[in-house]
Amino acid sequence: MESVQLNNGTRMPYLGTGTNTYGKKNNEYNGELTGDFSTLRSAIEMGYRLIDTAISYRNEAGIGKTVKESGIDREAFYLTTKIPTEDAYIKDKETVRKTLNQSLINLETDYIDLYLIHKPIEDEEKLKITWEVMEEFVSKGKIKTIGVSNFSNEDLEKLDKFATIKPAVNQIKSNPTQWNNEWIKDMLDRDIRPQAWGPMKTTDQHKEYLNEIGENYGKTWGQVLLRYQTQRGVVAIPKSHNPINQKANLESLDFLLSDEDMAKVAQL
Ligand SMILES: NC(=O)c1ccc[n+]([C@@H]2O[C@H](COP(=O)([O-])OP(=O)(O)OC[C@H]3O[C@@H](n4cnc5c(N)ncnc54)[C@H](OP(=O)(O)O)[C@@H]3O)[C@@H](O)[C@H]2O)c1
Repeated sequence: MESVQLNNGTRMPYLGTGTNTYGKKNNEYNGELTGDFSTLRSAIEMGYRLIDTAISYRNEAGIGKTVKESGIDREAFYLTTKIPTEDAYIKDKETVRKTLNQSLINLETDYIDLYLIHKPIEDEEKLKITWEVMEEFVSKGKIKTIGVSNFSNEDLEKLDKFATIKPAVNQIKSNPTQWNNEWIKDMLDRDIRPQAWGPMKTTDQHKEYLNEIGENYGKTWGQVLLRYQTQRGVVAIPKSHNPINQKANLESLDFLLSDEDMAKVAQL
């Protein structure tokens, strides 16, 4: 799978699978946990290796189990999780340590590839202690890469004041209804890798426009929009419960959009 080098020298696959409704009743975010991870199993069998979860998704343990049961080497996977910003998880350094250690237990692993702060932490002291403990886990080899999610440029500047390790990734919303292009450009300028959540959200009108572009390549709207993201340096983590769509999303990596078509997609 195509991958991209991060600012700490490690590499991350360009495409991964989101999981925020995996293992839940009716595939609903707040649904009861069912223990059924067949959709993740199908993604892994198809070749997905980057798996994006979060403590708030309540499914770290099911993901850890499914990854382990796949029988594929741990090193082949790229596991991402996220720390919530409520006091229960970050009120002091010991609490942050407990939170991060619990993720390692849940995911049944000795190390996590990427650990993100799920959203901005307004209280600068709590932001500082959270980041410092994340840095501590990097120095112990329990986390390979640390980053943030939904951080504005101002939030990133707050981190800059004390971080000894720069965030490698900022996971933000980006899709045709809201590309967030300025924000993405700023991140690329700062050498922080943008990762797109909610990448498939779009409108029927956009789908028609993207399908037209895709015709030349034999590709669908979804494949065109994912290729647009990865071709311009944005990692994407689409989520699907449908194996046909999971496969199609993976196959967005096997073609290249012309410069002209990249510009057309950008116009949306
Ligand atoms: N950091 C954050 O704050 C944050 C916030 C939200 C999400 N996330 C992460 O980002 C991941 C992705 O975001 P998301 O799950 O909200 O939304 P998404 O991936 O943009 O969209 C999911 C929807 O798109 C459909 N879909 C996927 N591929 C398709 C295709 N090829 N053709 C047609 N429809 C397709 C799926 O339906 P089917 O199941 O029928 O295919 C599903 O309804 C999450 O799962 C989560 O891991 C992070």
